Parts: sequence; structure tokens; C-alpha cells
Amino acid sequence: MIWCEHDKSRLRRLALGTAQFGMVYGISNQDGQVGHQEVASIMRHAKAAGMDTLDTAMAYGDSELCLGSIGLTGWRVITKLPSFLETCRDITAWVRKEVEDSLVRLNISCLAGLLLHAPMQLLKPEGTALFKALVQLREQRMVEKIGFSIYSPDELDALWQDFRPDLIQSPLNVLDRRLVSSGWLKRLQAAGIEVHVRSLFLQGLLLMKPSARPEKFKRWQPLWEHWAAWLDEQNLSPITVCVGYAMSMPELSRIIVGVDSKQQLDEILLAVAKQSPVLPPDALAVEDIDLITPSHWNRL
Ligand SMILES: NC(=O)c1ccc[n+]([C@@H]2O[C@H](COP(=O)([O-])OP(=O)(O)OC[C@H]3O[C@@H](n4cnc5c(N)ncnc54)[C@H](OP(=O)(O)O)[C@@H]3O)[C@@H](O)[C@H]2O)c1
Repeated sequence: MIWCEHDKSRLRRLALGTAQFGMVYGISNQDGQVGHQEVASIMRHAKAAGMDTLDTAMAYGDSELCLGSIGLTGWRVITKLPSFLETCRDITAWVRKEVEDSLVRLNISCLAGLLLHAPMQLLKPEGTALFKALVQLREQRMVEKIGFSIYSPDELDALWQDFRPDLIQSPLNVLDRRLVSSGWLKRLQAAGIEVHVRSLFLQGLLLMKPSARPEKFKRWQPLWEHWAAWLDEQNLSPITVCVGYAMSMPELSRIIVGVDSKQQLDEILLAVAKQSPVLPPDALAVEDIDLITPSHWNRL
């Protein structure tokens, strides 16, 4: 596909999630870990569409190595530092070593962003040293922005008083609107903090046909019926609405999308270029964490 400059300037707000590139991942994933060739093709097409940001994590299996082996010229990379272990004696040295190793795997000299994958660890006694270590890396220009990858805006309530990040990554989708309803999106914007969102498709659950949706999600049947009926009535595809919902918020600098194939990326790019004319109804918003937090799904 060839994109005009106008499309590219819109598509640049998308960032590519890479959990799928390093491990078998996702409830709707049929084909396991995405192959090296497919990853290279996805990245090539994403770049041609104007995308410039990759979201990865040290915890995503081989993801960093895979990206590094393909080559990251022209990409801005955000990675995430895992939890430190209780046995860690020197937090500063540990952070530095983890980031240096990550830069080697990625084969780059500087990160656009370093996020804590478990920011609530900042509330432990070692938290101040952990944050200082991040600040030091920023001062030494190994990292441009430091921040937190959160699962719920409640984490911001707990951390805000003592720790000011440059960047926050949060879940957001047509069901999970807590970032907006909590008022945090506006607060972050007012404080000049960059906001990225992920989980637009809830691992693909929001895009699945009813026949493919696992049985355990039946308990939210009225919600699924409402979603399907509304899409039908509006004559819209779920992907257009999922992407359009996030794109409608100018406060979001980057909107991270996960894909298992180049074909899925194309669907997303077309949906953004087309633009969803309608926002999803308020009644679809849910706060039931068993549904909106994928780590709870194993317990259903
Ligand atoms: N046409 C189609 O069918 C189509 C098109 C596009 C996409 N999709 C599907 O949608 C998937 C991507 O969905 P998405 O962009 O909405 O992203 P997502 O997979 O919902 O979420 C992205 C991030 O959220 C966190 N997360 C997700 N599941 C988690 C879990 N079980 N426990 C803890 N954290 C979890 C993970 O970050 P952390 O682990 O770093 O916290 C993950 O990298 C693709 O893999 C593909 O299967 C399908």
C-alpha cells in the first residue's frame, strides 16, 4: 500500500506492539509466535505507513533480539524494565546492566523510552533508588523518557505524589475507559506527561466473531450482544471503532497496536485512514476487572 503524507501524519500516532514477536501470545492468536520473516514484513509496512515507534519489553521472550536482528534504523524504541528481585543488592547497578543488555539485544545506542513494567515496586523501600537509577540513565542520555506501564489508573493514584514520570502507558479500549473516567488522562495532559495506550482490541477479544469467542466470556453475553447489535446498526467493523475510539483523543501521543500478521496491520492502517465516524456508546464501558484485565482470564 502507498500512503499519502496526510495519511502518514495520522498513522504516525500508531505504535507497533511486539509481544507477539517474542513469544506465543494472545487469546485470538491462532498461529503461535510470529515468524522472523513476517515480523520483518510487518515492520517494513509499518514504516512505509509513517509509523516510527516500537513498544517492547525485556520480558517479551525473544522480542528485543528479534527486533535487533531485523534492524532498527529510523525506529524509536520503548522497552520495559522487569520487576527487581528481593535478592537484588544494588538496584542502581542492576538497572544499568539490564538496560545495557537490552541495548545490545536491540543493537541500538539509546532508548526513546524506558518504562517500569511493575511500577508499584516504587513503593517498596528500594523504590527511591530505583527511580534515581532511571533518572541517571536519562541524564546520561541512554534513555530519552522514563515512565510507567500501568494496568490500572489506581496505580497513578498511589505513585503520583512521589514520582513524576515523563511517559505513561495505559490500557484503553471501548470497554476499558478508566483512563478517561478517572480523570487521569486530563491530569496527565495538564502535567505535560506523554500518554501512550495499548490493548485497543483486548488481545483481539473485541474483534472475534461470537462463534470464536471462548465459552468463559459467556457471562458477559448481554454486553457482547449490545456491541454486535450496535456495530450492525452503524454498519461499522469492530476494528474501525476500536481504533477510532483511541484516535479520537488528541491527548494520546501514541496508540499501540498488536498484530500477528501483515494482513492484520493492513486492516488497522486502513481503519485509521478511513476514520470511524461514530464513537461507541457509553453503555459499553465496564469496570469489571475480570473482563478488562487479561491476566485475570486464566481464573475464569
Ligand atoms: N483481524 C484480526 O483478527 C486482528 C487484527 C488486529 C489484531 N488482532 C489481535 O489483537 C491482538 C493485539 O491486541 P491489542 O493490540 O489490543 O493488544 P493486547 O494484546 O490486548 O495488549 C497489549 C499489551 O497489554 C498487556 N496485556 C495483554 N494481555 C495481558 C495479560 N494476559 N496479562 C497481562 N498483560 C497483558 C501486555 O503488556 P504487558 O505484558 O507488557 O503488560 C500486552 O503487550 C493481536 O495479537 C491479534 O491477535 C486481531
